[in-house]
Amino acid sequence: TSDVLISGGGIIGCACAYELAKRGARVTLLEYGKTGMQATNAAAGLLAPLGESGAPTAILRAGMRALREYPALVAELRERCGFDVELRDGILKVAFDEDESAALLRRFSWQRELGLTLDWLDGAMCRELEPRLSERVVAGVFSPQEAWVSNQLLALALERAARSYGAVIHERTPVARIRRRGGRIAGVAAGGEIYEAPVIVLAAGARSGQIAARMGIVLPVFPVRGQMVALGGMSAPIRHAVWGREGYLVPRANGLVFAGATVEHAGFRRRTTKAGVRAMRRMAATLVPQLAAATMPFEWAGLRPGTPDGMPFIGPIADTNVVAATGHYRNGILLGPLTGKLVAAGILDGDWSGVPDEFSPERLRAPIPSTA
Ligand code: GLY
Repeated sequence: TSDVLISGGGIIGCACAYELAKRGARVTLLEYGKTGMQATNAAAGLLAPLGESGAPTAILRAGMRALREYPALVAELRERCGFDVELRDGILKVAFDEDESAALLRRFSWQRELGLTLDWLDGAMCRELEPRLSERVVAGVFSPQEAWVSNQLLALALERAARSYGAVIHERTPVARIRRRGGRIAGVAAGGEIYEAPVIVLAAGARSGQIAARMGIVLPVFPVRGQMVALGGMSAPIRHAVWGREGYLVPRANGLVFAGATVEHAGFRRRTTKAGVRAMRRMAATLVPQLAAATMPFEWAGLRPGTPDGMPFIGPIADTNVVAATGHYRNGILLGPLTGKLVAAGILDGDWSGVPDEFSPERLRAPIPSTA
C-alpha cells in the first residue's frame, strides 16, 4: 500500500513520482515496459512553447511557465543525481518563401508581446547565425530563450531522483487487472502482485484512454505517431535548434542531430516506415543541405498522447479517486515537470488552482458551448 499509485513511467509519471516523493508521499509507479522508453524517448527534447503554438492558448501560457521553471529543476536534479541533463537554448524558425514568411511574421507580431525575446531575421541574418542553413531560407525568427534538453537524460534523472526520495518504481509491470472496492478503484493487479493506494494517477501516455476505459472512465486519449532519425558522421553542422515547416533539427551534445517528427494517425503501430524516415531525411537536407551526406545511426518512433482539443488532461476525474496526468501530445517534455508539481499540489494540498480549466479532465464531458 502506498499513498499514491502511478500508472505509467514516462516523463509525466516520473515527474509526478519525483514531486510527490520529494514532498514525503509514499509513491509506487508501475511501468509496462521500461521507464522513459515510449513517447518520452521519441522526442527531440524541445522546450518550445512559442514554437508549438499557433494561438495564445492555455497550453502556451502553461508552457511559458514551464520553460521559466526549467533551469531550477535542472540544477535541482544535477544536485540530486550528479549528472547534467544538457539544457541548451536558442531556436531558429525559418521560412522558405513569401507565404511561409508572412505566416511567420503574423506569429512573430503577437508572440513578441508575450515577454520572451524574439528577433526577426532576413535570410542573410539567418545564415549568419547558422552558416550551413540552406541558401533558400528567406527569413526567420530567432528565439534565444526557448530551449531543449536531453529528454532521455531528463527522464532518467527524474526516475533516479524519485527513487532517491523513496519512490518505488516497477518496470515491465503491465496492469493485469483493475481492483474495485465500494465504487472506487482500490488498486491494480500487476506482475503477480496487488498494488493499492487511495489515489491513482493515470499517466500512461497514449495508452491512458485504454486503461481509463478499464476503470470505467471515458478519457479520449489517442496515439499520434512521430518518427525521428538521428543523423551523424560529421561535426555537428548547426549550433541551435532549427525549425522549418516540415519539422525540426536539434543538435545534441554527443554530436548527433535529431530530426523529427512525423505526425501520423497509425493506431498503436510504433515502428518507423520507409516513407516516414525518407520524409525526415528530406526535411533535414532541405533545412541544412550538408545533412544529405550524413550517416543515419538510428531511427525510431513513438506514440504521442493526443486529445481531441490538443490540451492535456490534468486533475481529478469526478466521482473517482483517479487523477489524470496525460494527453500532453507534442508538449510532454516541456510540460512534464510542471505537471508533476501541479499533481503533487493537487493531491497533497488539495490545491488544483494552478491547473487551467482548459486542462480539466471534465471539459469533454460537458456539452460543447454554442458559438452562435
Ligand atoms: N514537440 C514536437 C513533436 O511532438 O513533434
